[in-house]
Amino acid sequence: MNPHSHRKDEHVFIAEKLYEAQSRNGLEQIKLFPNNLPEIAWNEVDMTTTLAGIRIPAPFFINAMSGGSPATAKLNEKLAIAAAATGIPMATGSESIGLKLPEVESSFSIVRQTIPNGIVLGNLGADHDFKDAKRAVALLKADILEIHLNAAQEIVMPEGDRNLKWRKNLKEITSKMNVPILVKEVGFGISPRSLHQLEHLGIKYVDLSGRGGTNFAKIENQRRHAKDFSLLDNFGLTTAETLIASRPFQGKFSFTASGGIRDALDIIKCLVLGADNVGISGLFLHTVLKKNSAGLIDLIEQLKHQVQALMVLLGCHTIAELRHAAFTLGPELYAFQKQLQDQQKEK
Ligand code: FNR
Repeated sequence: MNPHSHRKDEHVFIAEKLYEAQSRNGLEQIKLFPNNLPEIAWNEVDMTTTLAGIRIPAPFFINAMSGGSPATAKLNEKLAIAAAATGIPMATGSESIGLKLPEVESSFSIVRQTIPNGIVLGNLGADHDFKDAKRAVALLKADILEIHLNAAQEIVMPEGDRNLKWRKNLKEITSKMNVPILVKEVGFGISPRSLHQLEHLGIKYVDLSGRGGTNFAKIENQRRHAKDFSLLDNFGLTTAETLIASRPFQGKFSFTASGGIRDALDIIKCLVLGADNVGISGLFLHTVLKKNSAGLIDLIEQLKHQVQALMVLLGCHTIAELRHAAFTLGPELYAFQKQLQDQQKEK
């Protein structure tokens, strides 16, 4: 098997192996307040929202994971069956390998075949130029293209990119592409300084993808014998931290939150903190591997039901109203927010 295809299989295998050992995403430090007079009926809840500017029926989707080998083709098909049955969008893993090796193209295009009418997101690294980005969109007839920023992962990977100069590509792709571009991390979070830079590059849609779920420092360390980069195991911002840090930018971007989302309460907390929607990878991978597409469909339907129930409990008719829900931060997150605010004042 081609070594790149082998890597795709290893990522899935190791991500699943480490699933139970995932660290905290910080959302446990968000305390939501009850709304004791909610004044709302279940059927008044509107769960629709937008993903990279496109309207979607529920505030979460299947985030990038799979494709590039026979085993990940099967996995993509199973994920796509669940996406098609439930109407939630689905992203493929990086199509980079599909652009290089014609024999694995179908491990990606199977997603569009299985979801003829739903929303499909393509995925590429920021080392690719506009020409590649156009091919990635065409391969899937993608509605949205995710571009991942994965500096920490590249550093840990022995075969990783050693030239991390991505801004020119990002600017060109965003200005020329005819579908929305969603720039994402892969589980290390995005800092305020990087948000400033992304804003200047013309980016409008950002998936903050924080720490606390799938951890590519740990995954890449497991793949090699010398674990000399285990010092990055706790690198980056948790999902809660990157969401807090992004709050001053809410008028400038539409945010996706991801990283260690495990239940409907995590989804709601991300929306309260200002995300417009939430991406889920590890939990859906774990579910589809253990319980197949049928089990994943059940989980997605259950999540929709629970999100609706929590919106009722908070008295919120829309996702936008969730932004006004009352909450407090635990001491660690509060100190994090205070330091950021103090730094901002000093500038
Ligand atoms: C990923 N992720 C990912 N992201 C990306 O932009 N391109 C990719 O090719 C991949 N590949 C990939 C493979 C596997 C097996 C997993 C589990 C994840 C990262 C993913 O989209 C997400 O940003 C992180 O996994 C954090 O979310 P979870 O997994 O904690 O919900």
